[in-house]
Amino acid sequence: MTGRLQLVRVLVAAGAVLAASLGAVTATAAPSPDGPKTRIVGGEKANTADTPWAVALNNSGSPSPSGQWCGSTLVKADKLVTAAHCVSGYDVATFTAIQGLDVLTDPGGKKSKISSVWIHPDYGQKAGHDVAVLTLATPFTGVPTLPLETEAAADKVGAAAVVYGWGETEGSGPKDTFQKVDAPVLGDEYCAKAYADEGFSGPDEICGGFEQGGKDSCQGDSGGPLVLNGRLFGVVSWGVGCADAGNPGVYAEVATYAATLQEQIG
Ligand code: ARG
Repeated sequence: MTGRLQLVRVLVAAGAVLAASLGAVTATAAPSPDGPKTRIVGGEKANTADTPWAVALNNSGSPSPSGQWCGSTLVKADKLVTAAHCVSGYDVATFTAIQGLDVLTDPGGKKSKISSVWIHPDYGQKAGHDVAVLTLATPFTGVPTLPLETEAAADKVGAAAVVYGWGETEGSGPKDTFQKVDAPVLGDEYCAKAYADEGFSGPDEICGGFEQGGKDSCQGDSGGPLVLNGRLFGVVSWGVGCADAGNPGVYAEVATYAATLQEQIG
């Protein structure tokens, strides 16, 4: 049962890569077997009290007993931005948003079901476009929100972005626990070369992480925030493996979609 769900999960991740690459046959989301066993980026424990807009997006079909599935970002009291591949094809009733909870197996946190899902209409049709806006059934009133980055110029080599999530640690860190890690911008040219087969799309994606690997986001971090200068700069989207040298993380570029997202956010 778990195995089957896990397979489904891998297929979801692979599907995201495939969708992003528009049919490239060599894409795979599976970590390379000899890759470094680093955790979600060789990150460190983070505190949702410091980043209240980082919201866990759990799913009742998750292979993890905690329900851990994806991340998301609170951009208005009743709106979350997440990745399209986190929600595409799933019943809206299977999701629960959890705010202010560092360890997902602990009790507590503000919880809300999702009342509606908007997926970018070009997701799955064109490369990238891995963004979605969710409406909360119970708004997280009074919780600080994160503004969207609107300037394409923010995607500049060396920009000191940080990524947050509850995702996979590849066995070296605590499970289901909120973490953060640096993901400096490597630049569109770097990922265009690194992911020539998978189909990196410079205008709508951000290439972030370290050439030597060791620190990265990973499965389960998808949909969560890549933050720069106090704004939602990117959305965790895909990568080949996690934290492997030469295979950085790919993030949906929020500035590219800011106007479209803002229309949905209202
Ligand atoms: N697609 C993954 C997810 O569904 C996120 C992968 C991020 N990978 C990376 N190497 N940064 O959670």
